Amino acid sequence: MDSIVIQGGAELNGEIPIAGAKNACLTLMPATLLSDEPLTLTNAPRLSDIKTMTELLQSLGAEVTRMQGGQVLAMSSHDLNNHTADYDIVRKMRASILVLGPMLARDGHAVVSLPGGCAIGARPVDLHLKALEAMGAELDLRDGYVHAKAPLGGLRGGTFEFPFVSVGATENALMAATLAKGTTVLKNAAREPEIVDLAQCLRKMGAQIEGEGTSTLTIQGVDRLHGATHPVVTDRIELGTYMLAPAFTGGTIECLGGRLDLVAAFAEKLDEAGINVEETARGLKVSRRADRVRAVNVVTEPFPGFPTDLQAQMMALLCTADGTSVLEETIFENRFMHAPELIRMGAKIDVHGGHATVTGVDRLKGAPVMATDLRASVSLILAALAAEGETVVSRVYHLDRGYEHVEEKLSACGARIERVKGG
Ligand code: EPZ
Repeated sequence: MDSIVIQGGAELNGEIPIAGAKNACLTLMPATLLSDEPLTLTNAPRLSDIKTMTELLQSLGAEVTRMQGGQVLAMSSHDLNNHTADYDIVRKMRASILVLGPMLARDGHAVVSLPGGCAIGARPVDLHLKALEAMGAELDLRDGYVHAKAPLGGLRGGTFEFPFVSVGATENALMAATLAKGTTVLKNAAREPEIVDLAQCLRKMGAQIEGEGTSTLTIQGVDRLHGATHPVVTDRIELGTYMLAPAFTGGTIECLGGRLDLVAAFAEKLDEAGINVEETARGLKVSRRADRVRAVNVVTEPFPGFPTDLQAQMMALLCTADGTSVLEETIFENRFMHAPELIRMGAKIDVHGGHATVTGVDRLKGAPVMATDLRASVSLILAALAAEGETVVSRVYHLDRGYEHVEEKLSACGARIERVKGG
């Protein structure tokens, strides 16, 4: 397994290009299953999760051709010949559940392995299933698989109110509803930019959708969808991650392609902490106003609130803030696994249930640390950029799921960082 070695202390200056959003691409790719005409995605990120989704779609008989080094994905599910998503692929990536709604809507049946949990929580899929049942789906859970059937004549429009916001369940239901007969209303739907991006792509394919970006989605089913070409929206989590880098090290970083509307709540919190975010013609320019950031309190919420996927990165920054900060994680039940690793670097963090209290120290010290999940791993790298001495982050395969070429992007701005090939 590879490791990443960082010598802390270098100021960062320069520009970092932001890629297309992993979490948008992972729902846009299954959308190809809704039509027998080609769907082409541009601005796709080059990540291991995208390779896993490619493998899954190909196992179903879809064609996925990577072009321009993976930035363009030309897909076609004209020859769909398998409706079973196997556990050995699904267990690698929970987003695999997103093939369920599209397959069920298009062909009336699907068998999809239940995704395992993961490091940050149990992550059940009960809301995905309930939303599909509201469209008439008959679901039978056995042997670790969901056996799904649509009623004779196919899915039919229905109304479903999510008891709490679920990004993936909203995506599954939205895709299924595009081909359901009649009108579907999804209430308390997720408002994330990735949902907006999916709705815009589906509309290009001929879907009739209203309300994306609000809590209520209204979908008028159509008989079939046609092909389209769609650019994947900018990755707001990669953007937020690199916006934080200069706050650790000093200097100025311009995040190319960054859009303030994708990270408004996050940028407000940065401003409160004493970090400047300036919109430029090419993206977002970020620098800190003083040598130490100010302590701030953070509560993670569904969009448009502070994103849970940036909580670990923010905690890492607050470890050396001037004062005490409290972070409340309201989305996942176990998303503070970066805390023990940051404590190994000298951070002062007390975790109680969904709350973490961080008392700022002057500086962290480099140490060998271990990545536990995608966002935790990048929070350790950010902390290492400013820590005294050397940090070795092991198990960086977590990192490669969601960040392309981290070491190249950071070393181009002056970071002393390199990847060491593992055994
Ligand atoms: C998506 O996961 C993202 N993944 C996550 O990003 C992100 O953290 C999350 O949304 C929240 O924004 C992708 O888009 C591929 P949820 P998802 O359904 O859809 C519970 C990353 O780092 N829940 O909004 O799985 C669930 O356990 C990843 O890129 C149910 O109880 O998240 C969680 O506590 C991590 N039943 C909460 O709801 C369900 O049926 C929110 O989950 C579904 C979810």
